[in-house]
Amino acid sequence: MNASVKPAGALETRLREQLDQFRRDGVYKTFNYLETPQAPRVRMEGRGDVIILSSNNYLGLSDDPVVMAAGKAGIDEYGAGTASVRFICGTYTIHRELEAACARLVGTEAAVSFVSCWNANEALPGTVLTDQDIILSDQLNHASIIDAMRLAKAITKCETGVFKHANYEELDARLSAASDRQVKLVVSDGIFSMEGSIVNLPVLLEVCRKHGAICWIDDSHATGVLGANGRGTPEHFGLHGQVDIITSTLGKALGGAAGGFLAGSAALCDYVMQRARPQLFTNALPATVAASALAAIEVLEAEPERVARLRENTAYFRQGLLNLGFHPLPGDTPIVPVILGETAAAIRMSELLLNTGVFVTGFGYPVVPQGQARVRCQISAAHTREDLDQALAAFDQVGRQLDLI
Ligand SMILES: Cc1ncc(COP(=O)(O)O)c(C=O)c1O
Repeated sequence: MNASVKPAGALETRLREQLDQFRRDGVYKTFNYLETPQAPRVRMEGRGDVIILSSNNYLGLSDDPVVMAAGKAGIDEYGAGTASVRFICGTYTIHRELEAACARLVGTEAAVSFVSCWNANEALPGTVLTDQDIILSDQLNHASIIDAMRLAKAITKCETGVFKHANYEELDARLSAASDRQVKLVVSDGIFSMEGSIVNLPVLLEVCRKHGAICWIDDSHATGVLGANGRGTPEHFGLHGQVDIITSTLGKALGGAAGGFLAGSAALCDYVMQRARPQLFTNALPATVAASALAAIEVLEAEPERVARLRENTAYFRQGLLNLGFHPLPGDTPIVPVILGETAAAIRMSELLLNTGVFVTGFGYPVVPQGQARVRCQISAAHTREDLDQALAAFDQVGRQLDLI
C-alpha cells in the first residue's frame, strides 16, 4: 500500500466539513506571519510594516536589548534545552533565581515556574484539592481556569461552581452554602482579558475572608501593568502581598517569550513541586527563557516609569477613540475593546484596519458571547504618539467606511 495515501476516515471528513463551515460563516482565522520581533511596528509577511495594536507586549520588553541579551547569555551559560523534567535533572540555578524574583514581584513567600501560565493554572486545583473541597470561579475567567476546574473535578472529585461575572453576592451565598467544605478556593482573573476590566479585589477578598476561603488571582494581564510598580492587581488596590495565591504569565508584559508561575506560601509551592503533574511529567522552562524573563522582571523593578508611560498611552488612545465617536468598553487598562456585534463584523473591521497598516484582532463567538464580537486594541508603553495617532487615523477611516461613526 502506498504510505502517502491516507484513508479519508470519519474524523478527516468531519474536520474538513467543519473547516468549510468556519469559512462560510466568516469565522475562519487566518494567521499573519511576522518577520521581525514583537514591537510597536513589525514587518508582516506580504504586507510590509504594520503597527501592532494586538500584542501583550505591554511594557515593550519583548525586543528590549537587556532582555534579549539575557536570553542569549542564558543559552551560552545553560545550553539550548533542559532535556529533562525538573526533579530528574532539569532544574537550573536560573530557575531558582527566576522564582525568587517572581515571588518578590507579587509579594508571596515563594513561586514555582511552569512552561506556561496555562500549565500553572492547570496544575493548581487538580493537585491541591480533594473530594472534601470546593472551587468557585468567575464566569469570565480565562479558558485555562475553566479547563483546570474540569480537570480538577475529574481527578479529585472536588465540587466546582461558577458564579456570575463579578457577582460577589452570589459568591457570598455559594460560600455560605458550602460551609461544610474543608477547603474553599475562589478564583478570578485580575484583568479580564476580553473586557479589559479589573476584578473588584477588595470586595472579593472580603467575601473570601468572611468564609475562610482561599483567594486565587490569575494576574496574567495585570502583572507589569497594574499598580505604580507593575506588581499587579493587588498593588493597584493597595493589597500587595494579601492575596493567597497568584498565577501569572511570563508571556505577556514580562518579556513575552513563554512561561508562567504560581506564587503563594512556601508550603503550597513545595507541595506543587512535589505533586503537580504539569511539573513532574514535562520539561522545565528553557533556561534561555528563564534568563530573559528574569531580566524583564529586573528591568521592570528598575524602571517603573514604563508602567506610567503605559498608563499615559492608554489614556491617550482611549480618549482618541472617544473623540472619533467610538464607544470602547470603559476602563483604565491597556486592553481597549470596541464592541461590533456579529463575529463577521469584527473580522471585517480587523481586515480593513490591517489593509491600512494597523494590526488589531477581531474576536467573536465562542471566545466572547454571541452578538458581542469586538476588535480588541492593546496598548504598549513602547508605542509612540506617532504610532497611536496613525492607529487612530486608521480607526477614523475604517469607522467611516463601515458607518460606525
Ligand atoms: C488570564 C490568562 N491566564 C492564563 C493565560 C495563559 O498564559 P500562557 O500563555 O502563559 O499559557 C492567559 C493567556 O492568554 C490569560 O490571559
